[in-house]
Amino acid sequence: MDRLLIRGGRQLSGEVKVSGAKNAALPILATALMVPGKVRFENLPHLNDVTTMLQLLGRMGVEVLLDDTGSVELDASHMNSIVAPYDLVRTMRASIVVLGPLLARAHEAEVSLPGGCAIGARPVNLHVKALERLGVEFEVTDGYIKGRAPGGLVGGKVLFEKITVTGTENVLMAAALAKGETIIENAAREPEVSDLADCLVALGAKIEGIGSDTLCIQGVEQLHGGTHRIIPDRIEAGTFLVAAAATGGSCTLTDCEPKHMDATLLKLEEAGAHIDRTDTTISLDMQGRRPKAVDITTVEYPGFATDMQAQFVALNAVAEGSGRVTETIFENRMMHIPEMQRMGAKIDLHGATASTTGVDRLKGAPVMSTDLRASASLVIAGLVADGETVVDRVYHIDRGYERIEEKLRRLGADIERVRV
Ligand code: UD1
Repeated sequence: MDRLLIRGGRQLSGEVKVSGAKNAALPILATALMVPGKVRFENLPHLNDVTTMLQLLGRMGVEVLLDDTGSVELDASHMNSIVAPYDLVRTMRASIVVLGPLLARAHEAEVSLPGGCAIGARPVNLHVKALERLGVEFEVTDGYIKGRAPGGLVGGKVLFEKITVTGTENVLMAAALAKGETIIENAAREPEVSDLADCLVALGAKIEGIGSDTLCIQGVEQLHGGTHRIIPDRIEAGTFLVAAAATGGSCTLTDCEPKHMDATLLKLEEAGAHIDRTDTTISLDMQGRRPKAVDITTVEYPGFATDMQAQFVALNAVAEGSGRVTETIFENRMMHIPEMQRMGAKIDLHGATASTTGVDRLKGAPVMSTDLRASASLVIAGLVADGETVVDRVYHIDRGYERIEEKLRRLGADIERVRV
């Protein structure tokens, strides 16, 4: 199991190229299942979750051809399975995004529930309820959620009682090949959802309202082959900016999409960062100053992203003053706090709010990654800590960050991967 060894205390500066967005890539790869022909996707990030999705598609008979420019060609002409098995789903909850495409193409799907969880405990209840509106019948047996629409999918009206990103994506994909019109209300507006919609349009789908909370889809009989370029990863981009800001340093990101990052950039400015942006680059400069603590509440897009929450707790931990960070999207998403406390951070956790009083310096310590974004925050904490920090269970980070240690080294960080 790999670890990251970080010797903290260096101010970051330099340039980093942002990779393609993981959360856009996963559903976009799944659209291949809907097309009886070749599709090509560019700007694919090199990540473990992407590899898992490609393996999953491969198991269903999709031909996968990766090239070394970060593009992939997929051909589901000979798709031969509608099953997403436990051994792959358990490593990636986002595997659920094959549900909509399988139902759309084959009118049936069997997707394992991760970790043996029932619907409700680790919920996909909103996905199920919405797809039922399109004529799908579901049952849960043997740890699998099994959906069938013997007469094919029929468009309908879907109103999500709670905003769900992958739930919106599943319905969008299913509706693209359903008979008639589907309207999705209270749809997620995340850029990754819009990127999926743009990709579906490139493959022949008819979708209006892209980027809004009401999506209107006119089902078509078949999608056709095509090409789509995946948007840049706003969470990866934000993580590097926060890392640079926490160290009082500077950083320029290239190949990014600043217009997707307003909430993060506003908070960084509040923290004292000087920010310049063009259409595809962001430059951040703290001019050597310590950041100021910020207050944050996570909400759905275009609000502040839950996937950036942990990184800002790390920034607040070494900032001037006190800050409050409240998580409203997920329960139990504060697992980085006890690890940061072990590094000397002064954080009080009441319910879903982390109140931080910044300290001058954190102290390096062995810490444990618990999930993807929590691990990123521990790397940031390690970068601003005195001495050595060893971040264990790096596989969490490799799910969502492409060669994070190489990119950070390019910014001057003292960080290396240790294989044990
Ligand atoms: C996606 C992102 C994830 C991000 C999250 C919120 C992908 C692959 N992952 O996850 O990185 O943190 O959006 O922006 O895109 N819920 C239910 N029932 C459901 C579905 C969701 O109760 O059927 C709840 C969840 O428990 C959570 C909230 O709704 O509290 C939002 O979750 P959702 O938007 O669905 O997250 P994901 O799509 O899984």
